Amino acid sequence: MLGEREAHGSSLDGVFPEHRPRRLRTTTALRRLVSETTLRPRQLILPMFVAEGADAPRPISSMPGVVQHTRDSLRKAAVDAVRAGVGGLMIFGVPQRRDAVGSGAVDENGILNVALRDLRAELGDETVLMADTCLDEFTDHGHCGVLDASGGVDNDATLKVYADMAVAQAEAGAHLLGPSGMMDGQVGVIRHALDESGHIDTGILAYSVKYASAFYGPFREAVDSQLTGDRKTYQQDPGNAREALREIELDVAEGADAIMVKPALSYLDILRAAAEASPVPVAAYNISGEYAMVEAAAANGWLDRQRTILEVLTSMRRAGADMILTYWAVEASSWLD
Ligand code: PBG
Repeated sequence: MLGEREAHGSSLDGVFPEHRPRRLRTTTALRRLVSETTLRPRQLILPMFVAEGADAPRPISSMPGVVQHTRDSLRKAAVDAVRAGVGGLMIFGVPQRRDAVGSGAVDENGILNVALRDLRAELGDETVLMADTCLDEFTDHGHCGVLDASGGVDNDATLKVYADMAVAQAEAGAHLLGPSGMMDGQVGVIRHALDESGHIDTGILAYSVKYASAFYGPFREAVDSQLTGDRKTYQQDPGNAREALREIELDVAEGADAIMVKPALSYLDILRAAAEASPVPVAAYNISGEYAMVEAAAANGWLDRQRTILEVLTSMRRAGADMILTYWAVEASSWLD
């Protein structure tokens, strides 16, 4: 058809193109009217680090702008974040002492539990207070669980510690627990322990889909990780999609109140599939390496920082995330208001 018209040298006026998608992009008002994806502060969750015994906030070099807080600076930054409108806070503890079984995670005086108590006292139910329910920050070998005699991560022995850790976090005031260790059965065991101890309203945001990713690099600095090997015997193979749906199904059956896909940026296909399959809300974790990548490029003047950040977060919402954990939560909220 087109070839024929060209051959006759006729004008395209009124004939071609019949369809003009550009029409709806003509003005800001039109673009706003047909915009499909919302990004609101309440959909953003701020991950925060608190270091035991710190007398001043410590910068994390691979995550410019992110710090290991003191108990006091954590409290202040948490209040600021809540005022900025973020939907929740996810707290990670950095202990001073570590051991083989991660005792500091269960101890009511361990840094994470102490910080949760501080924040719940300060903020009450004004925000959603979340806790990382995992041993890697607390073990001297850096694995997410306890080890067996041959040095492998012992799934069922770890579950017993997770159960105690979960109860300690619920008692400290967390509204939602985030089991991130990828042990089989972790959601069911934690749900059971919470119910048995009377914490029926403490929820579980399950890290159902968590890949063994290189993008966690900066996080390992953020929590002074002691890990020397990798987490491939418990985290998922980046090439696999099917097992992600199986993990979600199992976690929902075990009682997950919400599920998570992590990392997010290289796994938007998985996020989309999760959003379609999940009967519960879906979170995406915009992780440390994704943050560092954008910050480094922007610092070099290679990317427009604000546009890139908003595009990254919008893509996760478009892929199906109901909520996004992001180190940019507070700053992005200020741009969205
Ligand atoms: C495990 C945990 C990790 C992250 C969140 N929870 C690290 C890991 O699995 O190695 C990574 C978050 C990030 O990279 O921003 N407790």
